[in-house]
Amino acid sequence: MNTDVRHEDAVAVIMLDNPPVNGLGLVTRQAVWDAVERAEADGAVSCIVLAGAGKLFSAGADIREFGTPTAYREPNLLSLIERVQSCKKPVVAALHGTCVGGGLELAMGCHYRVAAPGCQIGLPEVKLGLLPGAGGTQRLPRALGVEAALNMVVSGEFMKSERIAGLAGQRLIDQMATSESALLNEARAFAQSVAQARPMPRLRDLDCQHPQGDGFFAFARNSVKQAMPKYPAALACVNAIESATRLSFEQGMAKEREIFLGLMDTPECKSLRHLFLAERNAAKVPGVAPDTPERAVKRVAVVGAGTMGSGIAMNFLNIGLPVALIDNTTEALARGVASIQKNYQAQVSKGKLTEERLAQRMGLLEATLSLEPLSQADLIIEAVFEDLLVKKEVFGRIDAMAKPGAILASNTSTLDLNVIAAATARPADVVGLHFFSPANVMRLLEVVRGEKTAPDVMATVMKLGKRIKKTPVVSGVCDGFIGNRMIEQYIRQAGFLLEEGCTPRQVDQAIEKFGFAMGPFRMGDLAGNDIGWAIRKRRYVEKPQIRYSPIADALCEMGRFGQKTSAGWYDYQAGRREAIESAVVGQMIAKYRTDHQITPRQVSEDEIVHRLVFALVNEGALLLEEGIAARAGDIDVVYLMGYGFPPWRGGPMHYADSYGLDRVVHAMKRFAQNPMDDATFWQPAPLLRQLAQQGGSFTGGVTP
Ligand code: 3HC
Repeated sequence: MNTDVRHEDAVAVIMLDNPPVNGLGLVTRQAVWDAVERAEADGAVSCIVLAGAGKLFSAGADIREFGTPTAYREPNLLSLIERVQSCKKPVVAALHGTCVGGGLELAMGCHYRVAAPGCQIGLPEVKLGLLPGAGGTQRLPRALGVEAALNMVVSGEFMKSERIAGLAGQRLIDQMATSESALLNEARAFAQSVAQARPMPRLRDLDCQHPQGDGFFAFARNSVKQAMPKYPAALACVNAIESATRLSFEQGMAKEREIFLGLMDTPECKSLRHLFLAERNAAKVPGVAPDTPERAVKRVAVVGAGTMGSGIAMNFLNIGLPVALIDNTTEALARGVASIQKNYQAQVSKGKLTEERLAQRMGLLEATLSLEPLSQADLIIEAVFEDLLVKKEVFGRIDAMAKPGAILASNTSTLDLNVIAAATARPADVVGLHFFSPANVMRLLEVVRGEKTAPDVMATVMKLGKRIKKTPVVSGVCDGFIGNRMIEQYIRQAGFLLEEGCTPRQVDQAIEKFGFAMGPFRMGDLAGNDIGWAIRKRRYVEKPQIRYSPIADALCEMGRFGQKTSAGWYDYQAGRREAIESAVVGQMIAKYRTDHQITPRQVSEDEIVHRLVFALVNEGALLLEEGIAARAGDIDVVYLMGYGFPPWRGGPMHYADSYGLDRVVHAMKRFAQNPMDDATFWQPAPLLRQLAQQGGSFTGGVTP
């Protein structure tokens, strides 16, 4: 914290200085408090500017303090804001970069606000399962008007300062600075201009009403309940803002506080906070120093113009990098280019992309039969057929053409990256980049670190992953990496459940009710059941001791590959995605049971959900033990971003922690007694057993 009092203009500048985001943790809060006290007492100071050091004003309360007593220790954020507001000298907040959450609440406690252009302003607490708990729900409607404030608080989205400044009647921004670099000087000048003005304005004193309050809030509540039924915070935001319109400021503040404290302990809030930190921790690669120099990536080549290859190419075109898309037939290239063009065109139709941008992006794309562009590329991504021999051969050719220092990446989803890397003379330059389909949409990127992958290659692809707006998560080498290795166990369980008495719809509905975006059978129909079939055929040879339900094979033998054949676990009408229960599949399953003398039983929803989810958890525990996944949070991020796991449950490992690992182990022992299941699989992974015995958790380790 650094307080700079320049006596020549009588302005004290207090700098929030708590890298990386000027979070308002206890030390920072105390430092601002002390600085305000000093400035107030200093006869040479007539006004104060509160600004942020570095790239932003403040990202708000220190999320890492949540759940610890420090979060509430005095001066807490509320007391600090009250102290600033009651300062006898005007306090001007100078906003730049980002001013969100508690940072905005602090700024709203100041008497004036000067904002730099481009400053992102918002109250994103709802995304953490909270509401703004330091006056945000009470001051923002007074500053922006009830409707604009409600939209901002319920969506958690940020708005640029210049847009806010343009809103009719807004009182949030008193003056726009001409530029970010001019902000501090202009805020000083502004502070001087109001130094003697009394009474000092306070947002809390403004009127706060909605002309059709009853109707408006009833509508808002209904919309939120429908759009976000699993997020109590969203509804709580509406209620708190309604209080701002109906109660006195003090009463409204008390209401907000009560709701805030209640939300902090909800499972949803704990899950969302866990995911926020997990997502950011996932970017930290063990053994790779944060300052590891990156390799420059200015040109990309993608080998394979199929669905994956063309989707992958779009990610780089989107950030303005030239991409060479290479395939060995003109038909394949034409299909790849057409699919890219079609995707961009759809964005243009939705108004998300301009024709000009579309043309720019297509202009960066070179579709070619020649391997020549490989010699120019800094990053080469192989996206050919998922077959080890094919990939090794392609990597041999890439190795022969690529320039020294180029990064050679494989988009394999299951194969041994070390074997692929060994097909080149430069295994240190080889890495896995496992994009998820559709590759231009899905945010997950599994970065597979081979045993020889160089640290600077890891550093480069992790940063590049962020640049293309993915969430990169590192996985070690194993069959299926983190996501697919776990999903295989989940799908095995789904198969056993069919044998025992469930219909595909029962299984899907139970897990969708739990919150998954899609159950295993609908997912199979979407991805193509033939893909799983190919993997199982490989497994029957490699791991004959592992049992899979043969019902899925019988389905594929009937040619029911899913949506693409208009028939899979469900029936589909041409051109429609709606899954219709299939009589044919029902008969096929019934016949299987008869042939195998299985008397179907009623399986409870709870058993369906826990067999599926704990299958993920046990495999996840093995991945942690083997070091394939570095942290439980990484697994949760993979499942959130790539597999439709419900965010409000925090991912499979967090869910297991909150369910209680001893209860998970207990349930697994019960499942192991089911003769129709796989007793060997249900032996708890040693890590799980140990944590359960010691009262520990995957995400927190063992608590002493
Ligand atoms: N507290 C503590 N750490 C925070 C933080 C916060 N509020 N916000 C971000 N960080 C940390 C991240 O964990 C990360 O740490 P790391 O370098 O160790 O991984 C680092 O800051 C950088 O964060 P990002 O990777 O997210 O950086 P970006 O530049 O992509 O984004 C941001 C910056 C837009 C500020 C984004 O971090 C963000 O949205 N942060 C959360 C803001 C938020 O939710 N604020 C509300 C907090 S709750 C609150 O204020 C309660 C109050 O109402 C009472």
